[in-house]
Amino acid sequence: MRLGVLTSGGDAPGMNAAIRAVVRQADALGHEVYGIYRGYQGLLESDWAPLATRSCANILQRGGTILRTARCPELHHPERRAEAAAKLRKVGIEALVVIGGDGSFRAAEALHREHGIACAGIPGTIDNDLPGTDRTLGFDTALNTAVEAIDRIRDTASSHGRLFLVEVMGRSSGMLAVHTAIACGAEAVLYPESPNDTYESLVSQLHANWIRGKRSSIVVVAEGDGVGNAVGVGERLKRDYGLDLRVVVLGHVQRGGSPSALDRIWGSRWGSEAVRRLVAGERAFYLGEVGGVLAVQPMARILDPHPVPPKDLGALVSVLAR
Ligand code: F6P
Repeated sequence: MRLGVLTSGGDAPGMNAAIRAVVRQADALGHEVYGIYRGYQGLLESDWAPLATRSCANILQRGGTILRTARCPELHHPERRAEAAAKLRKVGIEALVVIGGDGSFRAAEALHREHGIACAGIPGTIDNDLPGTDRTLGFDTALNTAVEAIDRIRDTASSHGRLFLVEVMGRSSGMLAVHTAIACGAEAVLYPESPNDTYESLVSQLHANWIRGKRSSIVVVAEGDGVGNAVGVGERLKRDYGLDLRVVVLGHVQRGGSPSALDRIWGSRWGSEAVRRLVAGERAFYLGEVGGVLAVQPMARILDPHPVPPKDLGALVSVLAR
């Protein structure tokens, strides 16, 4: 059997571990893998090549993706999906492993539903915002990167007695923000799914901390927060209270770097499982982890609502900040 593998959307540490496992598991079972470069964009341009098992040497520990990646809005159009399916058939790729996030899985779901292309999804996004899995590749690494950066900021924040607003990625999800806030002992967190996430509640939390004698604070702000991004909130606080605060946007620093052990392990497990299921005839599913155990979801599950950060975590940030 000839399989194709692509990485799509924002890159995430751990993607290379998954690619390596796909190629080597397929080889172990006597199947062939084509690497498709630059995600669905490369698929539309027939940008692919066979991936030998040796070509995956020394990639396990590398961030990014050796297949490169792209965002491909063209795949939202049915006629472009028909083209993509025809190209796969022409080159003899019978099944596709898609490593990516929500948009990438939605495209795979449509390719299967409309054209019968067998697709396996491996969750790869630092946002950790897919239904049916507690984990996505890259989240653990990005979380540790953000925490390490904020630990450094903490040193200078407490030396100067300053307020820092630190913006983390996550698109419309607060998963990364809330977990980062707990792990770095932030004084407050602003994230989109929080019910009492307002500018006024932030001000009263900061004020309460000041009364308690805290002279420096770290506020983690999710980039998709409804109150505004970190720069916007910072401007407002400066204007209203004249605070000598600083804003740090961590940005793409969170997407790079060597994957954590957990991201390597799950990338390896999911890559191998995807191949074993596809060659056994399964056609439209994605993999995940639920309660520490490897889980399999029907590809159509990607259309379910996104998970929200555990409520208790958001509340715990302010309890522990006293
Ligand atoms: O989905 C991953 C992610 O890093 C989001 O957290 C962020 O909003 C987005 O990608 C940034 O995308 P780009 O790299 O295209 O600017």
